[in-house]
Amino acid sequence: MVTNPDELYRIDREVVWHAFSQMADYDGLIVESADGCWLTDIHGNRYLDGVSSLWCNVHGHRHPTIDAAIIEQLRRVAHVTSLGMSNPTTIELAQRIVDLAPEGLDHVFFSSDGASAVEVAMKMAFQYWKQIDAPEPNRNTFLAVGNAYHGDTIGTVSVGGISQFHSLFQPLLFSVLRGPCPDTYRHESSTETIPDDCHCARNCDCLAKSTGCRLAKHYLDQYRRILEQHHSSIVAIIVEPLVQGAAGMVMHPPGFLRGLKELSTEFNTLLIADEVAVGMGRTGKLFACEHEDVSPDFLALGKGLTGGYLPMSATLTTNKVWNAFLGDYAQSRSFSHGHTYGGNPLAAAAAIATLNVFEADETLKKLESKERHLSLLLEPLRAHPHVGDIRQKSLMAAIELVSDKRNKTGFPWAQRRGKAVCEVAKRHNVWLRPVGNTVVIMPPLSINNDELTQIVNAIKAGIDETLGAQP
Ligand SMILES: Cc1ncc(COP(=O)(O)O)c(C=O)c1O
Repeated sequence: MVTNPDELYRIDREVVWHAFSQMADYDGLIVESADGCWLTDIHGNRYLDGVSSLWCNVHGHRHPTIDAAIIEQLRRVAHVTSLGMSNPTTIELAQRIVDLAPEGLDHVFFSSDGASAVEVAMKMAFQYWKQIDAPEPNRNTFLAVGNAYHGDTIGTVSVGGISQFHSLFQPLLFSVLRGPCPDTYRHESSTETIPDDCHCARNCDCLAKSTGCRLAKHYLDQYRRILEQHHSSIVAIIVEPLVQGAAGMVMHPPGFLRGLKELSTEFNTLLIADEVAVGMGRTGKLFACEHEDVSPDFLALGKGLTGGYLPMSATLTTNKVWNAFLGDYAQSRSFSHGHTYGGNPLAAAAAIATLNVFEADETLKKLESKERHLSLLLEPLRAHPHVGDIRQKSLMAAIELVSDKRNKTGFPWAQRRGKAVCEVAKRHNVWLRPVGNTVVIMPPLSINNDELTQIVNAIKAGIDETLGAQP
């Protein structure tokens, strides 16, 4: 075993190819162990895990309940394929998810990562239209959202819309229809469309107080126009509900998801909700779709499904879709797709334990006061001349750094302003990973208020040091 720190750093830099990283100047943290919200590196330095090990750790690292569940499962069997076989743990998990999910999502297909869960939904939806009683063979495209991110496989990159990640691969991708990004900060709507009393542009819950958000309507009208023209060729509409994480924690206006669901019903297409990032409690409810009382045709889960312990993802769907795949063997209607580790029992044990901890610890109930605490901490940062926007949904939050606040002009991405802030935060023992010039806060849901304070103080120190202290 290599224990010499210099040698570990060398191998990590020269042999391991890190995701979304420029290996020419790679200089990452090497984590030796972790406990709760804290990571310990190979030198014994401790860092608060401000981004949940990339948005997936839910109840903290080394949670005794999840640790014990995995160990207990190890005593029985580590892996059973889902091709023609099963095991009690995965079966139990499937039923638990179905019982908790929005109504009508009665079937679960397991994969190993978020992109696969989304791609499964896309392929199932595609195959559905070919196999229904009155097949619609011309349904060959998807309606995706501007600046979407759904993963890094060719299928999910095709529905993705972040040019910095996706444009290079254009020749390999299939074409899709794309609506606007329903952005509450950089919305394209004219000021006449957004009246002063419309709070949605400030991302409050005005949907609950009025019949609908004008900003949501502004965007939905554009989706309606696309659907009017192309509905008969659309396999499904695909959306990240409420928050587009990789786009920089872009928050949708309230009512947008609900409106998209209504449009998908009106124009007889399907809705894929990609909850890989926002599912598993991140938005304050177990599933983000619950906020707008939406039951999609497909729900993709990943990341926090196993509490951030093991790779597992799931695609949930309805009886309507399931039934289109039933038939005689010779009809060849089964879903020809699978992953070797899909439904892995160790991961399933971690996922069941994760759901158990949600119940035992009343995780979602406790989030409300943490959300308020975080929002009070973030409020003073708004005044900084280079903080363009602060966005928050439960414990998902983002601080967007801009060069010109009035015009909302961002810093050139190559200046890596977000990274510079996070490097200072690291010196204050807080581990963060930005999305471009947006500093993201997405800690384990088990974090306490003192730890939240430490994260925001570290970010403030980073902003003051790299962009000048607030006058
Ligand atoms: C909304 C969304 N979908 C899909 C994915 C892809 O998940 P994975 O990295 O597990 O493939 C991500 C990852 O960040 C995501 O944020």
